[in-house]
Amino acid sequence: MTKLIISDLDVKDKKVLVRVDFNVPIKGGVIGDDNRIVAALPTIQYIIDNGGKAILLSHLGRIKSDADKKELTLAPVAKRLGEVLKRPVTFVPANEGAAVEKAVADMKDGDVIVLENTRFQDIDNDFGKRESKNDPKLGAYWASLGDLYVNDAFGTAHRNHASNVGIATAMKAAGKQVAAGFLMEKEIKFLGNAVANPVHPFVTILGGAKVSDKIGVIMNLIPKSDHILIGGGMAYTFLAAQGHKIGKSLFEADKLDLAKKLLAEAGDKLVLPVDNIAATEFSNDASHEVVSDDIPDNEMGLDIGPKSIKKFKEVLKDAKTVVWNGPMGAFEMPNFAEGTLEVGRALADLKGATTIIGGGDSTAAAKKLGIAPKITHISTGGGASLEYLEGKTLPGIACISDK
Ligand code: 3PG
Repeated sequence: MTKLIISDLDVKDKKVLVRVDFNVPIKGGVIGDDNRIVAALPTIQYIIDNGGKAILLSHLGRIKSDADKKELTLAPVAKRLGEVLKRPVTFVPANEGAAVEKAVADMKDGDVIVLENTRFQDIDNDFGKRESKNDPKLGAYWASLGDLYVNDAFGTAHRNHASNVGIATAMKAAGKQVAAGFLMEKEIKFLGNAVANPVHPFVTILGGAKVSDKIGVIMNLIPKSDHILIGGGMAYTFLAAQGHKIGKSLFEADKLDLAKKLLAEAGDKLVLPVDNIAATEFSNDASHEVVSDDIPDNEMGLDIGPKSIKKFKEVLKDAKTVVWNGPMGAFEMPNFAEGTLEVGRALADLKGATTIIGGGDSTAAAKKLGIAPKITHISTGGGASLEYLEGKTLPGIACISDK
């Protein structure tokens, strides 16, 4: 890895601006999952332990009107950070202006402050979406608050925003250092290496509803993977492309030709379900059966079947690198969760393999199974991890200085 890392910086007595991704699920001030807050702790702790001052910036949700501001303030997130960090964290209810400048000026070594949601800058101004459209003046303003800039927001790395690319650009122009945080370093190491330099056999497991969401990943990973296992709703467009009847299963007619092309290109690298759990409707209580071949007209495939699970496990058993993104079925309904859970168990049981999970649903499945500690890396990125697996250059990574 050639990027400058926070551990390469001397943070002592320095004001360190850190872009974190605290875009967590939140409702009525209650945080549904604090994973992303916990994942940012090593970087924040490093700054505290080494006598720096941490000024944290993050977005939360998407701000379209004033009404969104109440629900999407970072105040509850700052409170939660204080709890997991086990030390006081100051929340500043602004991200620009006198209150911010005073809060920064008052900081002592080891202090942590969280500024208000960067996307509050997306409304109420002449520029338009100042944060999301990367207003250079906003990036320069935020850069002026710190001596060093650390980007630890992998989840936002696919965005070209003022709080990542804008600040980094202004910092570099001012001769200040721009480094990756420890979470960013870890994400680049595992996801980047899996794509650029996987230890073989390399198995990619893709699921989820739509082929269209994963086309880029499939195309990028066909040449690199030894096997690509396909489950979930997206599998049915591929099965249809092979000439199978898929009943009422999810189907993307406009992706049929592409599916045929990918099947021809990948040959037997693409492994599709050989049986399915088919139900009469999309409901946990719907009557369902294991269907080994064509799915009847009045049924839809909602999970991979037992023979497919066996086949997928057979392919996985010798894997040395595995990337998994997307569930194998409608796993939120217990009757159609088995395929996803069995794939999770198979990953947890692998010995001597690097296992990487990306995407909210596969991550939720891993947590439900309690196997998260047995997985090498669970990515904090949703869209960012997909784009990274597609082989794209992510602006939030590209803007970090090289060593
Ligand atoms: C995410 O949750 O994927 C990131 O935080 C990016 O959020 P966004 O899609 O609203 O830019």
